Amino acid sequence: MTTVPSPARKTSAVPSIHIQAFDAPLGAEVRGLDLSQPPSDEQFAPIVRAHLDHHVVVFRDQRITPEQQIAFSRRFGPLQIHVLRQFQLAGHPEILVVSNIKENGQPIGLGDAGHYWHSDLSYKEKPSLGSMLLAQELPEEGGDTLFANMHLAYETLPADLLKAIEGRRAEHSYLAKYEELRQRSPWRPALTAEQIAEVQPVDHPIVRTHPGNGRKALFVGEHFTTRIVGLPDDESRELLDRLFAHSARPEHIYRHHWQAHDMVFWDNRSVIHLAAGCPDHMRRRLNRTTIEGDAPA
Ligand code: SIN
Repeated sequence: MTTVPSPARKTSAVPSIHIQAFDAPLGAEVRGLDLSQPPSDEQFAPIVRAHLDHHVVVFRDQRITPEQQIAFSRRFGPLQIHVLRQFQLAGHPEILVVSNIKENGQPIGLGDAGHYWHSDLSYKEKPSLGSMLLAQELPEEGGDTLFANMHLAYETLPADLLKAIEGRRAEHSYLAKYEELRQRSPWRPALTAEQIAEVQPVDHPIVRTHPGNGRKALFVGEHFTTRIVGLPDDESRELLDRLFAHSARPEHIYRHHWQAHDMVFWDNRSVIHLAAGCPDHMRRRLNRTTIEGDAPA
């Protein structure tokens, strides 16, 4: 009888990570990681690299707990707590529930998060480095998230627009669209004086330099960016509208169609994002952690 040798088993102490770039202006899948186990330093370095290079990284089939999501997120920096405290996951203030679901007539999460293009928490002195969104429950139809590459947006700006914004700063305000959203949304309670104090407008450079790779990126989004500092209102409005339209050109966009247990980690310093929405009667629920970044420069 001939014995057939069994195939050699790979015994590498560091499970191999494979980064597969998408056929898109940004985005990559990180394969070979189960995030229920904390990545080793050797595994962590290529994740950081992929995040810088591809701006959005997708980890498939991550059946992880809130504690594991929080622990992994903390490897990148301190976590930010969202001002709408009522949508925190019970017992886990670091997690914002993004959901259109109501239980006993009450929304369990922020159902209209991301309905305008934005970079998370750009209205803070130190906006977010990146956000991790973990799918819990997905609709059968719709519910995609779109990401626009703001390095590309900057690099392809028409010359007159580039000149018009040179050295300029723009104001970012959480409150600017809040009342408007509140009129048509069950997810926007009246804010307390304390909450309002927490989200006072700030200004940031319109073009920022990414601290991780030195690349320049546009840093504006229609949700939170309200005006260009030092310009008359009409001029500011016109320039911002052109910047918003240019950023969201199809050639800058990757559209993420969610699969069960996807965890998507995006770079708020180099992309803006938009939730495409889903039919109201379909359930959608995801858990978000938000990592603090630097003051844009
Ligand atoms: C967000 O803006 O963080 C939510 C994005 C989404 O629900 O797709």
